[in-house]
Amino acid sequence: MTKRVGLLTSGGDCGGLNAVIRAVTLRAASAYGWEVLGIRNGLMGLLRQPPDTESLNPAKLDAALMRLGGTVLGTTNKGDPFAFPMPDGSLRDRSQEIIDACHAIRLDALIGIGGDGSFAILRRLAQQSGLPLVGIPKTIDNDVRDTEASVGYDTAVAVATEALDRLQPTAASHDRVMVLEVMGRDAGHIAIAAGIAGGADIVLIPEIPYRIAAVAAHIDRLRRGGRNFALVVVAESVRDPAGGLVLRQHPGGQKSYGGIGAALADAIGRLTGAETRVTVLGHLQRGGQPTAGDRVIASAFGVYAVDLVAAGRFDRMVAWQNRRVVDVPLGASIATPACVDPDGALVRTARGLGICLGDA
Ligand code: F6P
Repeated sequence: MTKRVGLLTSGGDCGGLNAVIRAVTLRAASAYGWEVLGIRNGLMGLLRQPPDTESLNPAKLDAALMRLGGTVLGTTNKGDPFAFPMPDGSLRDRSQEIIDACHAIRLDALIGIGGDGSFAILRRLAQQSGLPLVGIPKTIDNDVRDTEASVGYDTAVAVATEALDRLQPTAASHDRVMVLEVMGRDAGHIAIAAGIAGGADIVLIPEIPYRIAAVAAHIDRLRRGGRNFALVVVAESVRDPAGGLVLRQHPGGQKSYGGIGAALADAIGRLTGAETRVTVLGHLQRGGQPTAGDRVIASAFGVYAVDLVAAGRFDRMVAWQNRRVVDVPLGASIATPACVDPDGALVRTARGLGICLGDA
């Protein structure tokens, strides 16, 4: 029987999303003869009248699409349909409108590409409506439980590593301490991986509390050893030296992490007398050409997700474990974010290389 599978990208964009869209569409068409209906701007597309959708034509999704950053379907990380912000400031439950839209466009199943926040919402909608759901994990933060990799993480690490490659010569030319603030929300995965790959001297992650005196002492040691510069990577959710979270308030009322790099650089400057500069990588980590690694994982996830739909296996999330694509319960994978293991391989590697994590 011909099926119509809905496909949406939800939450923050990242490298590799278009490769997932391509893989889902190609697999659905070539292996099963199904149609894939792309839903624009995540669930927002289903709140439009008529629903904002586009039948994805496999003949038009050539490899060029894989090379593009962002998502051709659009996405949003705002507007929980169960508590949707209305123009008058009130919150309204609009979940039934979305469910009605899914029926109106005659979806047989939905594949959602998202992170833990999006999955929690999609799962609740699926339970309420009975719509069969499969999840594909994407997030530069790499904090989705039960998968070793999420689409977008590899690209973000590559961007942060390149930033360190570029900061090192200018740091050395000017005798400076360069602080690089990277994203990652409540997890330090990007910081620790890029710190290792980019040859950082100090890496601060939220999972390992630091003492600013230990950071300053490490910089002093480097200088006594003849080094005229230092590279510091700090994850955005690391607390400031006084223990406070550093948040930015946006005009719309939203809050996001941002600013720890400057707070840290000031403290380092005061304690060591070093000249410091700060680079906040921000959304550069989400854009640009996806790495080969992200394209491969995205393609593997997309193919497998369609096969899950064909097998009638729902409420599952595609995952990468031990070099294999597997599937895990969607509910378990989103229960709590997966943070950096303070005793794990990357932390041990960093310590083994003499990188200061601020705790000793
Ligand atoms: O979750 C992905 C992410 O890029 C986080 O690393 C970051 O904290 C957040 O999204 C930024 O969100 P926004 O795009 O709303 O600024």
